[in-house]
Amino acid sequence: MVGTGYVGLVSGACFADFGHEVWCVDINAERIDQLERGEIPFYEPGLSALVSRNHASGRLHFTTDLAAGVAPADVVMIAVQTPPMENGEADLRFVMQVARDVGELLLPNQYKVVCTKSTVPVGTAREVKKILTEAAPEGAAYDVASNPEFLREGSSIEDFMRPDRVVIGTETPRAAELMQSLYRPVYLLHTPIVTTDLESSELIKYAANAYLAVKISYINEMSDLCEKLGAQVDVVARAMGLDGRIGPKFLHAGLGFGGSCLPKDTKAIVQMGEQVGVPMRLIRGAIEINDGRATGAIQKLEALLGSLEGKRIALLGLAFKPNTDDVREAPALRLVPMLRERGATVVACDPEATETFRQFFPDLEIASDPYAAAEGADGLLLVTEWNPYRELDLARLQDALNEAVFVDCRNVYSPKRMRELGFRYDSFGR
Ligand code: UGA
Repeated sequence: MVGTGYVGLVSGACFADFGHEVWCVDINAERIDQLERGEIPFYEPGLSALVSRNHASGRLHFTTDLAAGVAPADVVMIAVQTPPMENGEADLRFVMQVARDVGELLLPNQYKVVCTKSTVPVGTAREVKKILTEAAPEGAAYDVASNPEFLREGSSIEDFMRPDRVVIGTETPRAAELMQSLYRPVYLLHTPIVTTDLESSELIKYAANAYLAVKISYINEMSDLCEKLGAQVDVVARAMGLDGRIGPKFLHAGLGFGGSCLPKDTKAIVQMGEQVGVPMRLIRGAIEINDGRATGAIQKLEALLGSLEGKRIALLGLAFKPNTDDVREAPALRLVPMLRERGATVVACDPEATETFRQFFPDLEIASDPYAAAEGADGLLLVTEWNPYRELDLARLQDALNEAVFVDCRNVYSPKRMRELGFRYDSFGR
């Protein structure tokens, strides 16, 4: 497993737990030292125990030496980062560099599958193959494969162990069989394994993430309509979701999608479409709707509080969603500058993400918990629906607040109850 970022480390630890022997390789020596000591570089529930257990059992190794990892491997997975460039395209330099380095290590009579695990644009596996062909010695035995992951941050181990499906793209039956054998434990759970060509496999990942994004933006635009027409978006969503063809998931209205995947993958698929003359109108619409969500939240706050000049505003939650310390493309990253531009001071809290958030706003005032954040604040925005923020002591919160203004950006609380308690309260589409 080349790359010990989120995808590489979770996948590596889970494959080891399946009983495979896994070498996690990274050029970052500090990261490898950390992992050797049992320290996990990011917050993910259950990962620390999983890594320790498999490291102790001798199935999970960490090294900076690519050759040491590649030599004994049947499958080499490329799980390095693919950061977005200015124009939305994925930057594949790291993937291609690894491919070149791995290619030089391939040998005749030692068949290996070289597989992309990072989310990569359609055509990348074929590009990797070209590079391997250039770099590998004469007669080296290998195939390429694509094996996208569908892990959600915060529940990635469960997603890996009990996936809805596994997708494998290959060009030869031999590669397909070897790749399938990696997933034997989930096969026993009757998990569908979709084996296909390289291009379809690569596109499936983007198509799935973009669809989830469209679904979220759909319900968010519906929530705007609900507000104008006097309907309740949560009830609309529930009734829609009871239709088996629609399904209940990802119909939660609010601040929209953030994170390292949905925003990046929607932009990348639009880019891919543009390159071949397919305009991807639906996905572009989803991005546009999503971009307006933070502004919508600020407008709600202003409607309740008037001008924000000189006001103190508390944000509950900084992570892009609960159970992660990841703040990439988090709505809070947009909200803080918007509030400051309007002359407000911001205080925030989050159970896990304050350190990661501080990298973007080193001067942000951080409170230890929601009540400390609310102390003397003129208004509060519930930004990330962490469990502890779903069961707030509302009387205590009200006491702490200077003005009982509450914008519930995740539709957690009952509007009726909040108003009965004396809050000036708003949420999305209700
Ligand atoms: C997403 C996909 O769900 C995974 O299947 C995929 O493997 C992953 O991207 C990836 O490409 O690696 P993730 O980014 O961890 O996973 O987060 P999600 O749970 O999908 O949530 C994305 C965003 O949508 C969050 O900001 C969340 O708050 C928001 N969301 C989700 C809503 O606003 N409403 C909903 O109903 C659901």
